[in-house]
This record gives sequence, C-alpha cells and structure tokens, in this order.
Amino acid sequence: MSTFAARIIGSGSYLPQRILSNAELASRLDTTDEWIRTRTGISERRIAAEQEFTSDLACHAAQQALQMAGISANTLDMILVATTTPDLVNPATAVRVQRKLGALQRQIPAFDLQAVCAGFIYALAVADNFIRSGSARRILVIGAETMSRAIDWQDRTTCILFGDGAGAVILQADQQPGVGILSTHLHADGQYEDLLRTEGGISHGMLLNPLSGQGFLRMRGNEVFKQAVKALEEIVDQTLEANGLDKAQIDWLVPHQANIRIIQSTAKRLGMTMDRVVLTVDRHGNTSAASVPLALDEAVRDGRIQPGHLLLLEAFGGGFTWGSALVRW
Ligand SMILES: CC(C)(COP(=O)(O)OP(=O)(O)OC[C@H]1O[C@@H](n2cnc3c(N)ncnc32)[C@H](O)[C@@H]1OP(=O)(O)O)[C@@H](O)C(=O)NCCC(=O)NCCS
Repeated sequence: MSTFAARIIGSGSYLPQRILSNAELASRLDTTDEWIRTRTGISERRIAAEQEFTSDLACHAAQQALQMAGISANTLDMILVATTTPDLVNPATAVRVQRKLGALQRQIPAFDLQAVCAGFIYALAVADNFIRSGSARRILVIGAETMSRAIDWQDRTTCILFGDGAGAVILQADQQPGVGILSTHLHADGQYEDLLRTEGGISHGMLLNPLSGQGFLRMRGNEVFKQAVKALEEIVDQTLEANGLDKAQIDWLVPHQANIRIIQSTAKRLGMTMDRVVLTVDRHGNTSAASVPLALDEAVRDGRIQPGHLLLLEAFGGGFTWGSALVRW
C-alpha cells in the first residue's frame, strides 16, 4: 500500500468574454430579471464565442493552473476532462487539450469523463485513486463546458439557468499525512433520466439536429430541485461521518452552482452562514462540470481559502449523479 495523498498544487479558471444578462434574456423571452434572480440567484452568465470550443476554455483554465503550480504540461502523468459538452463525439476533449497544451512528449493518458454536473467531483475521485495507488504522480483535472450549445434559447425554463466556463486543478502525490483530498464519495441513480437529459446521440441513430429538438437539454426543474436538495443533504452527512468530523470543522463549502436556494439548504444542513460558502452562481449561472473548479479557483485567488482550511466540495447533476470531496488545503 502506498501512503500517497493527492494534494492540489494549482488551480485555474476561464470565463468567455461575452456576458449575457437577465435583462437581455427578458428582452427576448417571457421572463424578468426579478423572477430569475429570486428563483435561481442568477444575474448573468457567460457565453462562448462562435469559434471557442470546450477544449479552448479547458486549455485557458489549465494554463493558469500549471502556472500557479509552477510546472510544465510535459511533467503531467494524466489529463482528465469532465464535460457533458465535448468538442466532438470523438476523439475525447482531453486528447485535444493534451495537443493544445503541447503535453505530447510522454504520451500520457488523456480521457473524458461524463457525469454531467457532478463530473468534476467524479474526475477528482478518479484522479485521487490513481495517485493514492501510486499509478500517477501528477494529474490535470478539468471541468469545462459550453452549455450554451445544448440550450433551447426559446425555452425559458432552462435557458436562463446555464452558462459556459472552465476550471482546472493539478493534483500531485504528497507524503505528508492529512493534506489534500481526504475522501471522495460518489453516487448515481439511473431512474431519473426523464427529469433531466439532453436528447440526441449517435446510438439513438440520429445526428444532433436542433431543428428537430435533438441536442437540447430538457429538465423538469421543480422535481430535480427536490431530489438535489435531498441527495446533497445526505452526502454532506455521509462525508462528515466517514471522516469523523463535526460540521463546525468545515471552513468552506464549495458547492455546485445550480441554484442559490439549493446551496442555501446545503449550507443550512451544515449550520454554515453564507459568508463561508463560495458563491459564483450570480455571475456564472450553472456551468455544469465547470462550476465547482471555477468557484474553487476564485476563492483560492482572492485569498479566502488558506493553507490548512478544510473544504467540502459537492455537486449534483443529470443521471442523477452526485458526489462530494473533502479537501484539506
Ligand atoms: C428551474 C427552477 C429555477 C424553477 O424554479 P421553480 O421555483 O421550481 O419554478 P417552477 O418550475 O415550479 O415554475 C413556477 C412557474 O414559473 C414559470 N416559469 C418557469 N421559468 C420561468 C421564467 N424563466 N420566467 C418566468 N416564469 C417562469 C413556470 O412556467 C411556472 O408557471 P406556472 O405556475 O404558471 O405553471 C428550479 O426548479 C431549479 O433550479 N431546479 C433545479 C435546477 C437544477 O439544479 N438543475 C440541474 C442540476 S445540475
């Protein structure tokens, strides 16, 4: 048994330039800034430029993470991209990221992981296990999405919610006990596909065709909301229990940013005031697999997260899939 722990030695993030405000959406659809803000907490979101792909967003975030870690892309042992909006059906977005970063010297493995909004937590768990087992020393884990490409812009119940962006971390094997990722917890329940899914796919024998409604994300928001609140409450309890911790010991909650009301209910379960929760939903909307690393990077860069702090990362998404990671910074 190795004694390695996976420590986060760098983080990075990227948001496309274009800001889409609630006011702009309200000028095109039967909605209001007030409705969106009160029901979701979202004020604006970012939209990728026409020639900007998920791999481009991912690369910008990765470059920042590499820079913070002070390492070259050619010292990585693996690249993992969590995304539900890959550039192409194949090859994997991670392979395109490898090429764009110039990480080609050692033919390291690179692959995508699809667990929708929980994708980054899933990817973190996979990378953590590679490092714990001693199979890899340094892994780039990215959550990157161009959700705007899977949105029906006529559907006011979904198009107000999502945005584009990317976040990245670099995990490195560390022999110091009690640092880095302390535990990860993953779950899925495949019974709920009808509540949240994106239509279309190769195996369904159809190319993505927006004119036929294929390729659009569809959600029964109210029902998803209830399941999300319940699953996240349970996983918070599970994470604390597995680590023998009291909720008062968590310094920061870094949640998936789908809806402020879901985040508030998780914070309440933890007995946390909202000033100990990293919030980006107001400016980013729901960026799916990118939302947790985007929030994490923001709080690292502005100095809220400090060495020694205990962080609880969690996410819930389509599938349903959900998970958490407990991290000692
Ligand atoms: C989508 C969401 C914001 C909707 O909020 P809600 O309080 O559940 O609202 P409902 O869906 O019950 O809709 C209430 C009413 O608002 C209307 N409405 C929906 N979208 C609207 C919009 N953009 N503007 C104005 N009215 C809207 C509905 O048509 C409905 O009208 P009705 O009562 O006349 O039928 C919320 O359910 C949510 O955030 N769900 C979870 C999202 C999530 O976490 N998804 C991904 C997991 S990663």
